[in-house]
Amino acid sequence: IDAALSDGPLNGKHIVVTSGPTHEPIDPVRYIANRSSGAQGTAIAAALATLGATVTFVTGPADMPPPKGVRVIRVQTAQEMLEAVQAADKADAAVFAAAVADWRVANAGANKIKKDGSGLPQLEFAENPDILATVAQMKEGRPPLVIGFAAETDDVIAHATAKRARKGCDWIVANDVSPETGIMGGSENAVTLITADGSEAWERMSKSAVAQKLAARIAEAMS
Ligand code: CTP
Ligand code: CA
Repeated sequence: IDAALSDGPLNGKHIVVTSGPTHEPIDPVRYIANRSSGAQGTAIAAALATLGATVTFVTGPADMPPPKGVRVIRVQTAQEMLEAVQAADKADAAVFAAAVADWRVANAGANKIKKDGSGLPQLEFAENPDILATVAQMKEGRPPLVIGFAAETDDVIAHATAKRARKGCDWIVANDVSPETGIMGGSENAVTLITADGSEAWERMSKSAVAQKLAARIAEAMS
């Protein structure tokens, strides 16, 4: 209530935001996941709500509490995240900030795997659905503005530009997460916004400042 502005530039717009990691079970006590604090996705959802948007926040298990003033849908796995995104009301924009696990364990155990002397577990993997690409390539009801992220460790712009084309999204927010940048797990981010018009590098700033700048750009694009 405190977050949503009744007369902000995104008033009346519905925006879906994915955030956090997904957890793919190995057995009831173990999982596979990407590193993700959920900080950037949470800040983006908060910034969009502050500009008046109705936000559906689909989040994997993250330590960070979700922002105030958004509709929170909690999921564990990539498959659940896709279902939640598809079940959401028609959106005017979608921002895919989640660090989705690329693979799940196809032969996940219903019971805890024991070190019982029968050797190492033989895990089989299956590829998870690509939530961003699925939404970006929807034939009907595609949000007019679909935004993905690309966390890369080398050739950031080239990889992210290729990713934008491959997935069919409108914008990619790219960043360099190689260890020497100190971006992973930190409170700052240095991103490059990639659109059909090319790439634009933003100064390194707090994750909340990145979120506010992105939210302002979204509002401008949708006005
Ligand atoms: N993404 C998604 N669903 C997936 C994988 C990724 O929605 N199963 C989204 C992420 O939320 C992000 C974007 O796609 O917005 C790019 O994620 P990334 O992991 O960089 O892309 P991948 O296609 O998985 O490529 P990579 O091989 O670099 O991991
Ligand atoms: Ca990936």
